[in-house]
Amino acid sequence: MAVKKTGQNQPHSWLELSAINRSFGARIHALRAVNLRLELGESYSIIGPSGSGKSTLLNIIGLLDRPSGGHYWLQGVDTTQVSDAQISRWRCQLFGFVFQDFHLLARRSVIENVMLGALYTGISRAQRWRRANDLIGVVGLKGRTNDPVGQLSGGERQRVAIARALINEPKLLLCDEPTGNLDSVAADGITQLILNCVSPQTAVIIVTHDQQLAARCRSSWVVRDGQVSPNLSIMTSSETAFTASGSPVTPGAR
Ligand SMILES: Nc1ncnc2c1ncn2[C@@H]1O[C@H](COP(=O)(O)OP(=O)(O)OP(=O)(O)O)[C@@H](O)[C@H]1O
Ligand SMILES: [Mg+2]
Repeated sequence: MAVKKTGQNQPHSWLELSAINRSFGARIHALRAVNLRLELGESYSIIGPSGSGKSTLLNIIGLLDRPSGGHYWLQGVDTTQVSDAQISRWRCQLFGFVFQDFHLLARRSVIENVMLGALYTGISRAQRWRRANDLIGVVGLKGRTNDPVGQLSGGERQRVAIARALINEPKLLLCDEPTGNLDSVAADGITQLILNCVSPQTAVIIVTHDQQLAARCRSSWVVRDGQVSPNLSIMTSSETAFTASGSPVTPGAR
């Protein structure tokens, strides 16, 4: 397993992408030479036009997809050098996913959907039930625990999806347009719920088309034509961090 050598000019980040490319066939270059760093304890937003590569980037970060080139260092280990079995373990242990269209089973109850998030972790059904029950309280759905998800509103469904994403206590919560299908009041509640997940040992990334939502995160990136740069519309240039090679990395906190 390749472990990153950290020198004086090379701070060790929890997660680091270095010259990451992702192509689909010969014609589509969804990500081009992406460099970025991420630390726990922070909130990040990603904005950019449709088709610019945001979901592709999130999928690579969350180990749902592998890059075509470049290096992805996770906790100091080069993920491009590790086995598929290790990738699956990390995906399950380190990441939680929240999607715009929820990805829930409409006929199953709220608690069944949340428990499904921990199905392959080896923990007992009783423990999964306890964790799910606690999280349903955290997301404010206590009274709906046994209702089928199909009976819930969009905002309520997204709360179920967040509880499911949190059941394995992920280090990084990855949210792909989590408020895209919600009205502004529901979107505000969901955004707050997601931002409340940040702790010194956890981080969140939110992909969004909404600049106001993006501005509520401490750092923000913009993706254009597969390239990532700091979101200058909500930061001053003096707060922008660059690597030694001049590539933008984790933008400074606002
Ligand atoms: N599995 C795939 N096969 C072929 N092309 C793909 C695949 N996944 C993504 N792409 C292409 O990669 C580019 C980036 O797609 P991506 O889904 O990352 O964009 P996005 O920024 O998330 O867009 P949106 O805001 O509409 O969700 C697009 O041109 C898309 O068609
Ligand atoms: Mg997308």
